[in-house]
Amino acid sequence: MTDATVAIAPLHAEFGARVVGVDLSKSLDDGVFEMIDTAINRYSILLFEDQSMNDDAHLDFTRRFGEPEEEHVSYYSSGKITYIGLVGNVDADGNQATSRRVKSARGNEMWHSDSSFREIPAMFSILAAYEVPDEGGETEFASARSAWARLDDATRRLVDGRIGIHDYIYSRTQVGADAVNESQRSYMHPVRQRLVRQNPLTGEKNLFVGSHVRAIEGMADDEARALLRRLIDEITRAESVYRHRWRAGDVMIWDNRCVLHRGCGYDEAKFRRRMHQTRVRCRGTSLAETVSSD
Ligand code: SIN
Repeated sequence: MTDATVAIAPLHAEFGARVVGVDLSKSLDDGVFEMIDTAINRYSILLFEDQSMNDDAHLDFTRRFGEPEEEHVSYYSSGKITYIGLVGNVDADGNQATSRRVKSARGNEMWHSDSSFREIPAMFSILAAYEVPDEGGETEFASARSAWARLDDATRRLVDGRIGIHDYIYSRTQVGADAVNESQRSYMHPVRQRLVRQNPLTGEKNLFVGSHVRAIEGMADDEARALLRRLIDEITRAESVYRHRWRAGDVMIWDNRCVLHRGCGYDEAKFRRRMHQTRVRCRGTSLAETVSSD
């Protein structure tokens, strides 16, 4: 895909593309934005390199796709609404973060879809890298759409139409009971999401699973956990994973409706990892709208 100045080239055999010729620190004209919007629906992750980002430009770009999602970690600690989430081990003042934040971030090292634990989950996440570790700290991505295309008919029949229970407290406490605070425990209630979703533009289906899914309605817990494990293994088989080694200046957008991702570990005492993230809410407000498509 190209226009006079912009080129979009695949990153991985199954999904993902690198976008060249776009400066995200400037307001994008409608034609270029439409190209990016079409590309994210098609490729599921987009990489922009050598960007000079700042939070204002990041948020302006985010709003082009839709309503930004308030960041939940600091919201449930301080009650303040902010749209820029801090990813990594550096706080807003530039200091090494507390152990609870680092521990909570370890939850991101399990395969997940951002904000699937919200009634209206995130459509896109946009992550800008400012400081990155010399070793480790990569992010891995895998396409739940490609996995659906590979799935046998019996498994498709078993999962299509079922509802998964997504529970933030369940997933975060897998890394330690103190990874969440009391405020999060009282506000973050489990939500219902379909196990299979469909892109409203392309009609393609995908699995919608990940670490936040605690149970499947109408299925015994043991059976549900085994099925979820099998589905996540299918999505994340080695040859289907794109592992991104970050450079400062990289900006990545991914489509949480159909991509699982996870952060990779690094030496948190030795290296700084400073990244800022925004998320765009899925469109639609009712369960039927949010679970079946956007
Ligand atoms: C995330 O899970 O949204 C962030 C992934 C990462 O830390 O690489």
